[in-house]
Amino acid sequence: MSKIFEAMKKIIIINGPNLNLLGKREPSVYGNQSFEDFFAVLQQELKGIELEYFQSNSEGEIINKLHETDFSYDGIVLNAGAYTHTSLAIADAIAAIKTPVVEVHISNVFKREEFRHYSYLSPVCAGVIAGFGLNSYKLALQYLIERK
Ligand code: DQA
Repeated sequence: MSKIFEAMKKIIIINGPNLNLLGKREPSVYGNQSFEDFFAVLQQELKGIELEYFQSNSEGEIINKLHETDFSYDGIVLNAGAYTHTSLAIADAIAAIKTPVVEVHISNVFKREEFRHYSYLSPVCAGVIAGFGLNSYKLALQYLIERK
């Protein structure tokens, strides 16, 4: 029997440290748009998706949010900022949950300083998207939305 009703997908974007300053922070690297403005447009474009946004500058809060989401979300888009390159604790949290996580970066981290080339998170994420500005988030969402 064909499915008549398909439940709405629920996806959360989690941003880590300093990403609350998007639009003001190093605009030559991260652009001029605030994340809140970008997110408002995303919500309009993705009306059929329950999309949430969480930002924290604190490693522990990001870990708590990852644990929490495992019970009720279909996917997580995570830009852990500089914690990407330092946090074994966030990597362990991703490995501990079943919800697929896509690692994103606004900038092309591989074009930048060498300390940004290593990610503790990539080995435990479903995939990585970097270097496409805020469109990196859209590409990650596309994967999570189309995923069966
Ligand atoms: C970033 C890249 C990180 O190296 C940096 O620490 C950030 C932002 C990005 O989106 O390009 O805070 O994750």
